[in-house]
Amino acid sequence: MPGILLGDVFPDFEAETTIGHIKLHDYLGDSWGIFFSHPRDYTPVCTTELGRASKLSGEFSKRNVKMIALSVDSVEDHHGWSKDIMAYNDEAPACKLPFPIIADAKRDLAVKLGMLDPDERDKDGIPLTARCVFVIGPDKKLKLSILYPATTGRNFDELLRVIDSLQLTAQNRVATPVGWKPGDRVMVPPNIPEDEAAALYPAGVFTKDLPSGKKYLRYTPQP
Ligand code: BEZ
Repeated sequence: MPGILLGDVFPDFEAETTIGHIKLHDYLGDSWGIFFSHPRDYTPVCTTELGRASKLSGEFSKRNVKMIALSVDSVEDHHGWSKDIMAYNDEAPACKLPFPIIADAKRDLAVKLGMLDPDERDKDGIPLTARCVFVIGPDKKLKLSILYPATTGRNFDELLRVIDSLQLTAQNRVATPVGWKPGDRVMVPPNIPEDEAAALYPAGVFTKDLPSGKKYLRYTPQP
């Protein structure tokens, strides 16, 4: 079955993009990566998404995350569409999108990575790409995937929040609760025994009493 699972090494594909021919792992280098696909160039929801992604590119760079987009059109179309995206953002026409867009006109990558949306088709009846997000770690393994249908735009501010959690939990044995934001308290994962927790979390572990009497709701300040 096409597709890629958490923990898999992300395919080191080669592709034509708006910055030329790339090999994904070389493009990413030692950075984290975020790869996001779009149904089609010159479509309204995609334009708003890429506009927001462009506005937030400095925030992704601060987190050492390289961005790359994909749509099932040609490099030439991507260049033309990029000008519209900059205009949507009220940026000067000479400004360029701060990340490349892959041209997947034959849908090779869309099929390989399980990204087609069977409910959205072009005028010839061929499926368009869904709105996939893949976050790739510096070890080139898949850390997160999200799949939205073509009709629902994503929230790139939420993706930054998610990356903050992924990066924190890659470095520390903690988990982040619902709606967590950087600086909020975090949770002690359930696989940490109580007698190890004191040594692992020097800032203290605070356990919430529950009717079950089970002591699994354990918080600690963000390391
Ligand atoms: C859009 O980007 O606006 C879009 C693309 C395909 C289906 C629906 C919406």
